[in-house]
This record gives sequence, structure tokens and C-alpha cells, in this order.
Amino acid sequence: MNQDQLKQLVGRAALDYVPAGQILGVGTGSTVDCFIDALAASGIAIPGAVSSSERSTQRLIKHGIPVLNATEVERLAVYIDGADEIDGQGFMVKGGGAALTREKIVADLADQFVCIADESKLVQTLGKFPLPVEIVPMAAAQLARRFAKLGGEARLRAGVVTDNGGHILDVTGLSITDPLAFEAEVSQWPGVVTVGVFARHKASVCLLGGADGVKTLKF
Ligand code: 5RP
Repeated sequence: MNQDQLKQLVGRAALDYVPAGQILGVGTGSTVDCFIDALAASGIAIPGAVSSSERSTQRLIKHGIPVLNATEVERLAVYIDGADEIDGQGFMVKGGGAALTREKIVADLADQFVCIADESKLVQTLGKFPLPVEIVPMAAAQLARRFAKLGGEARLRAGVVTDNGGHILDVTGLSITDPLAFEAEVSQWPGVVTVGVFARHKASVCLLGGADGVKTLKF
């Protein structure tokens, strides 16, 4: 199976976690696109979804699934999203699709984070994938200096403006051995909107697609 087929496989597997009759949190990315298509085809009735991006919103609407504003919802039972990296404890790097801020907001509403990914995303230590950080543009140079002190090299993602009007720094060269401490530290640097380490909002479950099918990792 190629990577696209694995994404379709885990997208379908995630249907088992959709709470019928309840509002669902929906993430962003190519794996989530597969999930949204599978959800639409499944006939599972949900009253609507809270979406983490304009991209997912458009896809949900195209399938006739109502999209609710996050401000209208107090809690979600389940949030389903992909990841750029996930480790053996459920800590993740996210934001390859520049949707990390809204993803963390929707994840914060949810009791359970179901991560869907192909097996290439499973890592020992987070940091090989360039870490996305949504920032306020005027802080870019100072934040790059701060990351350099941690051994990272920050580059502005050219031509990208997020759904919130922010910019994205992609930071290479990091080895994130303590995701909780790293997230707590970087999150309080002035000009950081959201860091793409999801440690406090880690996965509860990961459906990992590989040659032998879907493995379920519980954290
Ligand atoms: C978007 C994300 C995605 O979940 C992440 O980039 C994985 O995407 P894909 O499913 O396309 O590999 O965090 O901001």
C-alpha cells in the first residue's frame, strides 16, 4: 500500500470513533480529507462538526455536513486529526498544513484526541519534521534568535498566511526530548501564537496505518 492508500485506510478506521448523534471535532490535512470523505460516505448521522481550518470547513460543507463555530460548543467528545510526527507517548508535532492554532483550540474542547496517521509519522523523538510555529510577524527575527539558542534554525514559510492572519516559522535541527517542558517554554515567548508541539493536548489514541493494516496505540 502506498501512503495515500494508508491515509484512506486510517480515515475509514476513524469512523469507529465518531460519536453518532454528537458534534465532532475535525482537524486538517490530507489524512483528515480522507476521513471527511469516509464520514460522508458512511451515513453516520452527526448534527455537525467544529472544524480546525477553512480547508476542512469547505470539504465538510461540500459533503453537506453542517459546520458549527467553536464558540457555540462547550465540549466535544472526540476530535479527529492527523499529525506530522507522533511519539510513543502520544506527543505530537503538528502544523504542516499551517492550521495548528485552530487545531489546538478545537483539541482543547475535546475529551478524546484521535490521531490518524500512516506509520511514517511514528518517531522515537520529536523534532526531525521542521517544527511549525505560528507567530506575529514582527517577532520573527527575535524568535529565530531564541530558537537558535536551542540549536534550531527557523525559516519563515514563504507566502503563507494562516486562517488567523499569522505567519509560520518552520524550525529545523531540534530534538524535543521533553515535549511538555518545550511546549510550556516556547508558548510563553512574546510573539508566539501557537507552537506545533501538542503535548498538553496529546493524542489519546493513534490509528496508525501500515503494511499490516491499522494498529491502535492507546496513551
Ligand atoms: C495541519 C496538520 C496536519 O494534521 C498534519 O500536517 C498532517 O497532515 P497530513 O495528514 O496531510 O500528512 O497538523 O496543520
